[in-house]
Amino acid sequence: MENNYLIRLFRKNDVDDFLSLVNDNRDRLYLYFPITMKFVTDKKGSQKYINSKIESAKKNQQFAFLIEDKNNNKLIGYIIAKNFNHQKKECELAYWISKNEEGKGIISFAVRELVSFCFERLKLHSIYLRIDPQNPSSIRVAEKNNFTLEHIAPNDYERGDGQRIDVGYWYLKK
Ligand SMILES: CC(C)(COP(=O)(O)OP(=O)(O)OC[C@H]1O[C@@H](n2cnc3c(N)ncnc32)[C@H](O)[C@@H]1OP(=O)(O)O)[C@@H](O)C(=O)NCCC(=O)NCCS
Repeated sequence: MENNYLIRLFRKNDVDDFLSLVNDNRDRLYLYFPITMKFVTDKKGSQKYINSKIESAKKNQQFAFLIEDKNNNKLIGYIIAKNFNHQKKECELAYWISKNEEGKGIISFAVRELVSFCFERLKLHSIYLRIDPQNPSSIRVAEKNNFTLEHIAPNDYERGDGQRIDVGYWYLKK
C-alpha cells in the first residue's frame, strides 16, 4: 500500500487541483480546518494559500505537504508540521484525507513519513497531535503511530461549528 502514495511539498501549479480537493471536502473540513476553508474559496485564494505555504517551508516555519496517489498523480490529502518550538525541538502535526480515500491507512502512512522527516531531517525531539476526543479515527491514527495521550486540555479549541471542545494532546518523543 505504501508504494502507492507519497507526501510532497506544495508547488505553485497545484492551484486548481488543491482547490478541487478542498471543494470536494469542504463539508467535513470546516470543523478542524477553518483557516484553510476561509482562504481556499477560489483560484486566487488557493494561489495565495499555496504561495504562503511555499514561503513558510523556505523559511523553515511550517512544512505543509500534499498527499498524492502515485498511480494517477491525484491529490488526496494534506498533512502539516507547524507550531515549532525551537527550544523544545518540538512541533505539531495536523492532517486530513479526501472522503473517498478514508480508512485505507493513508493518513497513518503520511504521519509515519512526516514523523521521520521531523526526527531525522529537522532533528526534533518531540511531536504532538491535538485531537478532539470525539474523533475516533484520528485517535486511532495517533495510536497506530505510537503517540501517547499525555493530557486533555479543557475548552482548548473552538471548532468550525462554534462548539468549544476539550482537546487531547498526544505525544511522540524520539
Ligand atoms: C481522521 C482522518 C485524518 C483519518 O484518516 P484515514 O486515512 O482514514 O486514517 P487511517 O486509515 O490511516 O486510520 C484510521 C483508523 O481509524 C479507524 N476508524 C475509523 N472510524 C472509526 C470509528 N468510528 N471508531 C474507531 N475507529 C475508527 C480505522 O479502522 C483505522 O484503524 P485500523 O487501521 O486499525 O483499522 C480522516 O478521517 C479525516 O480526514 N477526517 C476529517 C479531518 C480530521 O478529522 N482531521 C484530524 C483532525 S485532529
